[in-house]
Amino acid sequence: MTGDVEPALDRDLDTRINALCEEGREFWHRFDAEVRQDDWHPFVASDYDAVRAALESVRKPGRRFLEWGSATGVITIMADLLGFDAYGIELDSSLVDVARDLAARWHSNAQFAAGSFIPMGWEWKHPEGNGRHGTVGRGPSGYLEFGCALGDFDVVYGFPWMGEEPMMLDLMRTHGGKDAHLLLHTPQGATRTYRDGKILGELISTPTARID
Ligand SMILES: C[S@@+](CC[C@H](N)C(=O)[O-])C[C@H]1O[C@@H](n2cnc3c(N)ncnc32)[C@H](O)[C@@H]1O
Repeated sequence: MTGDVEPALDRDLDTRINALCEEGREFWHRFDAEVRQDDWHPFVASDYDAVRAALESVRKPGRRFLEWGSATGVITIMADLLGFDAYGIELDSSLVDVARDLAARWHSNAQFAAGSFIPMGWEWKHPEGNGRHGTVGRGPSGYLEFGCALGDFDVVYGFPWMGEEPMMLDLMRTHGGKDAHLLLHTPQGATRTYRDGKILGELISTPTARID
């Protein structure tokens, strides 16, 4: 923790973010009913309020933020509105189109790439020999489109399915920035903040403290 506290959000920004999240939730419910009921899809929306609380706890002007599997872009756009330099990578290019459209309508500078958040050449070495990636798909690296590497981001966010957290922690350990924060949403609806592989805190929906 530091004394370098960001001021509380002004009311307009707070209202905008709430409306963005509401639009995101409505899209997700439609997607779940119209797409996922016929064909399984890895996109499940997180608890946006819990992610927002975690983002606010690590917010500093100019910090570079990356969302792994950005789906409709709600969280990346929220990060942009909160002052991060925000990027999202998503494998499903139709969702990337949705995210770009959402960003344009919300006058957001958030940027999106269609591709994989797994850097080229990286393979997960599971300690017990099982290197399965779970629901994390394969594809060309999305970093190339941004012209930067995973190690260039200050804050990285992901929503792993059950059992995928060790893979994300290992990816961050091997390719993440030295002082970067990793925010992982949990199936229980909380967002956990890690740095250097250690848990700094877990937030549900109301920020109680800054995590630096
Ligand atoms: C559980 S959803 C999370 C969506 C959003 N980040 C959130 O927290 O609400 C995971 C997303 O990751 C995407 N995805 C899966 N594998 C990926 C990969 N290798 N690279 C980029 N996106 C991927 C899926 O298509 C899906 O949209």
